[in-house]
Amino acid sequence: MLILGIETSCDDTSLSLYAEDRGVVGVTTAAQLIHERYGGVVPEIASREHVRSIMSVYESLLERNGVGQGEIGGIAVSNGPGLIGSLLVGTGFAKSLAYALGVPVVGVHHIEAHILANELAGGPLECPCLVLVVSGGHTQLFHVASAGDYVLAGSTRDDAAGEAFDKIAKMLGLGFPGGPAVQKSAERGNPAAVDFPRAMKKRGDFDFSFSGLKTAVRLHVEAAGRLDDGGIADVAASAQEAIVDILALKTLACARHFGVGHVYLAGGVAANGPLRDRMRADCDAAGIAWHAPLLEYCTDNGAMVARAGHHYLVEGRDDGLDLDVFARGILSSPSA
Ligand code: KG4
Ligand code: ZN
Repeated sequence: MLILGIETSCDDTSLSLYAEDRGVVGVTTAAQLIHERYGGVVPEIASREHVRSIMSVYESLLERNGVGQGEIGGIAVSNGPGLIGSLLVGTGFAKSLAYALGVPVVGVHHIEAHILANELAGGPLECPCLVLVVSGGHTQLFHVASAGDYVLAGSTRDDAAGEAFDKIAKMLGLGFPGGPAVQKSAERGNPAAVDFPRAMKKRGDFDFSFSGLKTAVRLHVEAAGRLDDGGIADVAASAQEAIVDILALKTLACARHFGVGHVYLAGGVAANGPLRDRMRADCDAAGIAWHAPLLEYCTDNGAMVARAGHHYLVEGRDDGLDLDVFARGILSSPSA
């Protein structure tokens, strides 16, 4: 079945065509560069931009890949969590199109889509496993005993890891989105230059906190006065090291606690090079298999939504025109 995946939960209008026997047929994404000037995503502007671009993204996806509308067998849309206005655009579009084409439509939890982005490269998730979800809005550890059975094992008490990257980039004048900018600047810096805090390191639980790091970076920058490029690179490298260090420590401790043989990364921050390197090394040392999505499927994209929706569509599910959106909600197994 050829599935159309639709992702509009934040500031990317991303549509994709996916079939289990063909893999990802194509992805077309319109990124909203307008938010750069505000240093963060402005929700009202994001929804308007989705309205402006979704139809042309859809048409160009079909045209570029030589696919006719009649070939679409089902539609999957990320219907939450996220920005309500943005979600409404994607979900409204998905339902209208499903009605017009006479095909089923399913809503997909955005975090499940990030997790299942791993399946676009490596086939079905190997369970039992542990998944570290690190994005702009989430930092969560899930124990997945069997496919679809997500149990939250830890999460951030305040900011998400991606949010920390974004705010630190803003303080350093590195632009938006912050994660890739911090990573790039950090390449020229010394990760041991500043000993930033690793919050909640000694606690026995699997929760995180990044607000203290944000404050520590702000105080350091204020005390330093004007930082030159080398100084900025040192702060970027040291802050990135603190984030990577605590994510890896807690994930490995959690993996050992559950005795899993597989660890997966997911979400936009999973694109971070030093995080991928560190997780791979730590998992190798612990005898645990390490997995991460291909770089292009880490940040928000329609392909991960199509792949997640595939699981529901092949079961014959159809959420129909009553499908609604939701702003918040932790991913849990259907039976939980
Ligand atoms: O998953 P995502 O695309 O959107 C959300 O669901 O939030 O994640 C976006 C986040 C942003 O905070 C961005 O700065 C971060 O992922 N990110 C990175 C990198 N690429 C994207 N963080 C660190 N290193 C990267 N290379
Ligand atoms: Zn996301």
